[in-house]
Amino acid sequence: MNLSRSSLKDVLSSIRHSDIYLKKVGIDITNSDRMLSESLAEKNIDTNTTFAALNLLNELGEKDIHWLLEPTSNLINHIKDRYHNHHRLQLPLLISLARQVELRNIENPYCPVGLADYLNGLHKDLLVHMEKEEQILFPFLSDEKMAYVFTQVSLAMHNHDHELHMLSRIDELTDGLHLPENADNVWKKLYVELAIFKADLLEHIRLENDILFDKCG
Ligand SMILES: [Fe+2]
Ligand SMILES: [Fe+2]
Repeated sequence: MNLSRSSLKDVLSSIRHSDIYLKKVGIDITNSDRMLSESLAEKNIDTNTTFAALNLLNELGEKDIHWLLEPTSNLINHIKDRYHNHHRLQLPLLISLARQVELRNIENPYCPVGLADYLNGLHKDLLVHMEKEEQILFPFLSDEKMAYVFTQVSLAMHNHDHELHMLSRIDELTDGLHLPENADNVWKKLYVELAIFKADLLEHIRLENDILFDKCG
């Protein structure tokens, strides 16, 4: 929608949760016949920033809207608790399971040979990446010191591309997590845990790329 020509009423009726956002930036939404741009000008609120936020709200799903409206520090804490700390526990387990599967099933043509070493490399890369985010990037995002942040954000996004590439290598090594009929319980557990880890890492990267970095861009 063309926000520069929209009334408050148009915006409120077509963009879910726009009422929460507009109230948050200080717009009085009770007189909804007014033009959005007029209301912004009256309060001296930056039009480009507001339009970008409203367009983002328009594109996002329900769970992302929740994070978009939360303070950045809450989202950062969620990412650290739910994903970073989780990955720190997941990967040592995955590596141990993969080693056992490789040792027990080396003769099996479906055996994911090299997976444990590969996960070990991914573990090291991910630990460094998460540490950098926690020590350098996240504190800057929280403080909104933007000048330096842009460089760090593009570096982090580059690392995310690398991690996504590593996930596709796991698919190659495990034939898309395909289990042979005679797979033992450890092998089955490994692939279940790998599937959970993959889903977690994808959601973790998506939250950072699409929501956290976008909020600060
Ligand atoms: Fe992260
Ligand atoms: Fe990350």
